[in-house]
Amino acid sequence: MAGRIPKEFIADLLNKIDIVDVVDSRVPLKKTGSNYVACCPFHNEKSPSFTVSPSKQFYHCFGCGSHGSAISFVMEYDRMEYVEAIEALAAQLGLTVPHENTSSYSKAKTVSPDLYQYLVQAANYYQTQLATATEAQNYLKKRGLSAQIIQRFGLGYAPAGWGNLADQFAVELHPTLEKIGLLIKNKLERYHDRFRERIMYPIRDQRGRVLGFGGRITNSQANADQPKYLNSPETPLFHKGSVLYGLYEAMQSTRDLKRVLVVEGYMDVIALAQYGIPYAVAAMGTAATRQHLERLFRHTSAVIFCFDGDNAGKNAAKRALETVLPLMEEGRQVKFMFLPESHDPDSLIREEGLEAFQVRIDTATGVGEYCFSLLQQDIDMSSMDGRAKFTKLASDLIDTIPVGAFRDLMITELGKRARIGQENLAQLAKTPLSPSEGNKQANGTIKSIRGSDGRPTPMRLAIALLLQHPDLIQLVPHHWQTLPEAMPGSGILHQVINLIREQPTHTTAALLEWWREHPEYNQVSKLAAMPISIPDGGVNAEFEGVLQQLMKLAIDYKIEQLMQKAGGEGLTPSEKQQLQQLIRGMKE
Ligand code: GTP
Ligand code: MN
Repeated sequence: MAGRIPKEFIADLLNKIDIVDVVDSRVPLKKTGSNYVACCPFHNEKSPSFTVSPSKQFYHCFGCGSHGSAISFVMEYDRMEYVEAIEALAAQLGLTVPHENTSSYSKAKTVSPDLYQYLVQAANYYQTQLATATEAQNYLKKRGLSAQIIQRFGLGYAPAGWGNLADQFAVELHPTLEKIGLLIKNKLERYHDRFRERIMYPIRDQRGRVLGFGGRITNSQANADQPKYLNSPETPLFHKGSVLYGLYEAMQSTRDLKRVLVVEGYMDVIALAQYGIPYAVAAMGTAATRQHLERLFRHTSAVIFCFDGDNAGKNAAKRALETVLPLMEEGRQVKFMFLPESHDPDSLIREEGLEAFQVRIDTATGVGEYCFSLLQQDIDMSSMDGRAKFTKLASDLIDTIPVGAFRDLMITELGKRARIGQENLAQLAKTPLSPSEGNKQANGTIKSIRGSDGRPTPMRLAIALLLQHPDLIQLVPHHWQTLPEAMPGSGILHQVINLIREQPTHTTAALLEWWREHPEYNQVSKLAAMPISIPDGGVNAEFEGVLQQLMKLAIDYKIEQLMQKAGGEGLTPSEKQQLQQLIRGMKE
């Protein structure tokens, strides 16, 4: 048995990882107010009741009641064991999971570091194969790739045949290789190679570890029924929604990534690198997600989106705009560039060369300018109606921008373009520009605690409030008298208070995780997910009220205990005094 994983490590992991990333890479989320929503992956539904709270680091479905931390989500969604889920999340952050008692370390049931090893072995195998595959080499030559660039991107070739890669590994490893997307198990329970007769592009994380592959056919005529590209499926290591092809290679090319170009295809990344633009990355055939961009902004402060000039490109740009606006924090710069129709970066840089392409990058449109010109496109700005419509559309978008200089600039610019007077503009800037979806939803679907039949006891409410708003700890007096132990729930409440005092930065999810292997886990987790609908400003007052109620209950409880003892074995003098004080206190 592997030793236990220290609780501190798990808490640290949950503090470092963002549940929004974890969920969004598996189930695309939509921002509403301060939360994210989606249709619940754990039950069938048409309108979204699955919410993820970034501040609590917690997910909750109001439809089916499933809830928990990032770890719980991975367990449920990826069908992993507890330890496996921790290993998978840790692997994403590049952390090694420590075990208390490492002498008895065993590889059983964990996502072992070997998984990466097998992917490297596969990448090496494909590279070796390329060396002897003339047709594949010719194809790459025809596409103008130099030996050096082929080497830098680790390109390889998966030969024809069903068992070439499988035969490189012991049969016992085949189920593992299936798990990481390299083999496929057929109906007869036999394993065969997923990638056959394809140019192989290893996809690496920012640390250079191979997570998966893209594979391209070399001869589209002969394989007309085959998709042009085949990517690794989602695996415990590979999540398309968060990996960027080329980021590692871009980071290798320079110590300081001043800017990053986001393009569409593998070949675009590679061709740009060959022609002298080594800082392009691509999302794997999908629109760039929030996590993709969050990840990018950890490595650079300037992102330039590069789109084809056709309609698909324009639509993609619009989506990118909506994704990136909420990420426009201080110091970040975002631009948009559009290529001439029927070109992609690969074909264009070959045709017009590095310098001309660089001019395009340098003259790309700023995100603000692009945003307004997009909105104004179909609007008659000379009419009042048009300007009103424009104001509405623009304020909805501006509303998603974080508070800061960029947001202020956008509001000013909106005022200029819509010809709104200074006063009205100040009004726009001060109040939320549009009522957030989140509030609407909270009032509509969350059952209010007040007035409902199942109103929780003060004890349950106190625990739930503290778990959900750990900041409330400030309102718990330092000399907080411990509640009588026999009072139901007091043990948990004291534990929550101690835990938050020791770990003031813990989120709801990290607090909950502390109970994972305790008998009370289910109870505590329900309280962590319990819908409490209190208006934002009212949480403190509610909690103070609940504390007072608890104090009163505790006094009642003590009085009753002392009275009982008085009627039985009798009270000691100090107990008599205590009882008198308690009763007096109650009358005051
Ligand atoms: P080349 O045709 O080799 O120049 O590739 P490209 O990178 O220019 O491809 P394209 O512009 O057609 O597509 C952009 C990206 O979409 C590719 O790099 C892939 O990630 C993805 N893609 C394209 N075709 C397919 C496909 O058939 N299946 C899948 N899963 N992804 C694809
Ligand atoms: Mn192309």
